[in-house]
Amino acid sequence: MSRAICLIEGDGIGHEVIPAGRRLLEATGLGWSFVEAEAGWDAFRRHGTALPEATTAAAEQADATLFGAVSSPLQPVEGYRSPIVALRRHLDLYANLRPVISQPVPGSRPGIDMLIVRENSEGLYAGIERREVDRAVTERVITRRGSERIVRRALELATRRRKHLTVVHKANVMRATCGLFREAAFAVAAEYFDVVVEEQLVDAVAMRLITSPEQYDVIVTTNLFGDILSDEAAALVGGLGLAPSGNMGDTHALFEPVHGSAPDIAGQGIANPLATFGAVTMLLDHLGEPAWAERVRTTIAAILTEGPRTPDLGGDATTDQVTDAFIERVLE
Ligand code: NAI
Ligand code: MG
Repeated sequence: MSRAICLIEGDGIGHEVIPAGRRLLEATGLGWSFVEAEAGWDAFRRHGTALPEATTAAAEQADATLFGAVSSPLQPVEGYRSPIVALRRHLDLYANLRPVISQPVPGSRPGIDMLIVRENSEGLYAGIERREVDRAVTERVITRRGSERIVRRALELATRRRKHLTVVHKANVMRATCGLFREAAFAVAAEYFDVVVEEQLVDAVAMRLITSPEQYDVIVTTNLFGDILSDEAAALVGGLGLAPSGNMGDTHALFEPVHGSAPDIAGQGIANPLATFGAVTMLLDHLGEPAWAERVRTTIAAILTEGPRTPDLGGDATTDQVTDAFIERVLE
């Protein structure tokens, strides 16, 4: 059965890492069909929109989307809206998954294998803000439905892992919003007898990620807390350059490297494709190909250990050379 993958390169090194990801998917021989779609700053300049309707439609129709990165202008530009935020909203990709796994690179701590599940559609990023001269307010929206579905997603993922879930909140201070999140979380957790569920305050987690990150299996939390904790956790295992993420809804899924469009190295052919290959492992898992996902995952570790490496990891290989070596290795 042929599955349709929507490929969105975006800007900058998106044009380098997404073609590498496509080559890896093709090498699996699993029978994909690909649809290429545009988004980002170049698309905005060409079409007057950073997210053309054809792109939304392509992502909607695909079995999964692989997204590179887009460049966002530093100053607000009339009519420009972040396409990734708009896509997440349009496809209702309410769960942001960030696996954090020890890697054989200098600067990675050993013994870490956690998954951070971040609520992606509400909380402090709901976009309800107002400025009153010298007073500004951002509303934090937490709903029972939004909390229940993200916690349910985290529990489902935990049952396939070490069956341990940490619910992260600050309900001792934000009694209304975090209070509702916590209440909804434990109501859903009661249905999952085989998962051990505990709760921790977000500031304590920020510290324990540094002092004892091995203790975590699955973490579930609200939007802003998850954004901050997942970047912190990425720093424990080699940094953002290697980190993948998944944006999941009930009917759609989009996978991407966490890094941006890297304008400083774009066009030089030296972008590291390994974060995108990490996103490919998540896509393979999602589309019911766990054996292939595992092969790609172990190959990432092997290539990090033995090379070749791109300059960001101290090597001198190009994107194509790493991709060639990767594909040869994954097919062994
Ligand atoms: P960035 O992640 O693009 O780059 C930060 C540093 O890491 C740069 O020195 C870059 O060369 C390096 N780097 C990143 N990915 C790499 C890779 N695969 N291989 C080798 N080196 C890599 O972040 P920055 O510079 O803050 O943002 C650049 C642009 O990307 C901005 O327009 C920003 O808005 C956008 N951005 C987009 C994201 C997305 O589309 N999801 C996420 C983050 C930033
Ligand atoms: Mg972030």
